[in-house]
Amino acid sequence: MKTKIQQLEEIIKQASSQEELAEIERVIRNTSGKGIGYGGKVFGEIQNVINDTGGKAGALIRVLQQAQGLVGYLPTPVIATIARDLKVPLSEVYGIISFYHFFSMKPKGKYVVQVCMGTSCYVKGGDKIMEALKRDWQLEPGGITSDGRFSLEIVRCIGACGLSPVIAIGTDIHGRVKPSKVSDILDTYD
Ligand code: FES
Repeated sequence: MKTKIQQLEEIIKQASSQEELAEIERVIRNTSGKGIGYGGKVFGEIQNVINDTGGKAGALIRVLQQAQGLVGYLPTPVIATIARDLKVPLSEVYGIISFYHFFSMKPKGKYVVQVCMGTSCYVKGGDKIMEALKRDWQLEPGGITSDGRFSLEIVRCIGACGLSPVIAIGTDIHGRVKPSKVSDILDTYD
């Protein structure tokens, strides 16, 4: 059984450009010795998914979906593994991931907080809500709280302008949110 680092070293050897190499090395440097939040078992499960598809490049989206389901997001070593085994250029895999909004290369919290910054919400204080989240929860767009409870995304008009300013937490919509009440709202999620 290969260790995570051995697996990553193999990926590095097969990286096809200096940019890919630099990105993968950066991930390894940041994670080396600390574990990478998922282990050989997950790599093994992803490998099973790839094997089930017969390693066909056309299975890329399905494999990415299942890998994200296993890990929670798509870290670079996972992406590199999939690209290698399906024989698809890394640039193409990144293109697919950035095209489909449901793919994420960043970990998401147990609850995803979406702050609407559409015109109506913005003029009614969406930016103040963002300030409150940064001040009280150290949350910035794309970020996640240290306990993994919340991550933050910016969205543009979620179709509830009459309730501006609006935030969504998971599938719940909260309207006419006062910045001073943001913490109280988040505290109802555990
Ligand atoms: S602008 Fe925020 S819901 Fe429409």
